[in-house]
Amino acid sequence: MTVSVFVGTSVDGFIARPNGDLDFLPPGGGEPHGYNEFIATVDALVIGRKTFETVVAFPEWPYGKKRVVVLSSRPLDFSKVSGGVVEQMAGPPAEIVAKLAATGVCHIYVDGGITVQGFLRAGLVQRLIITRVPVLIGEGIPLFGSLPKDIRLHHVATQHYPSGLVKSEYRVAT
Ligand SMILES: NC(=O)c1ccc[n+]([C@@H]2O[C@H](COP(=O)([O-])OP(=O)(O)OC[C@H]3O[C@@H](n4cnc5c(N)ncnc54)[C@H](OP(=O)(O)O)[C@@H]3O)[C@@H](O)[C@H]2O)c1
Repeated sequence: MTVSVFVGTSVDGFIARPNGDLDFLPPGGGEPHGYNEFIATVDALVIGRKTFETVVAFPEWPYGKKRVVVLSSRPLDFSKVSGGVVEQMAGPPAEIVAKLAATGVCHIYVDGGITVQGFLRAGLVQRLIITRVPVLIGEGIPLFGSLPKDIRLHHVATQHYPSGLVKSEYRVAT
């Protein structure tokens, strides 16, 4: 099983404004920077309830027929998900990963700040692919949070793109 993060942040490390707005990210990802190639390798997404609330309001469900697991401790309404494959889970990240592994999932894409932080704290993330957008927004929803101990990373590659996007891939050291 591999658990990956693929996310866009401001240079000061935020994934959304305090109210959840994503207006500082270039529309549609700005320019191709490997998302399509990445998502093609993913068996299932695991997203937090707050990320779900953002994406379900998009004009189109962004994940196609890919299996999407929404984490929440409360009942969720999936009636507005048209054409998607979506289910709910809750519990410790290790249990989520075990449940997905038992159904043949080999590559999980985790998204949402609180959700990513939970999987990182549990030592379950192997790959981080972070694309920095050339802007400082000062305050917002952070990608990272507190940790019980340092997580050492190996730098795999960094690419920069004409619009100023800088994508860095790291592997979590074992
Ligand atoms: N820039 C980007 O690439 C990017 C990517 C993703 C998201 N975003 C933005 O980030 C914002 C959302 O991030 P966020 O950090 O606020 O929240 P989030 O991680 O999307 O959602 C957090 C919620 O997920 C649920 N959750 C997480 N782990 C759980 C677990 N193990 N078991 C049960 N429930 C669990 C909880 O929901 P309950 O409270 O319902 O229990 C928690 O409050 C949105 O504005 C979104 O658009 C940006």
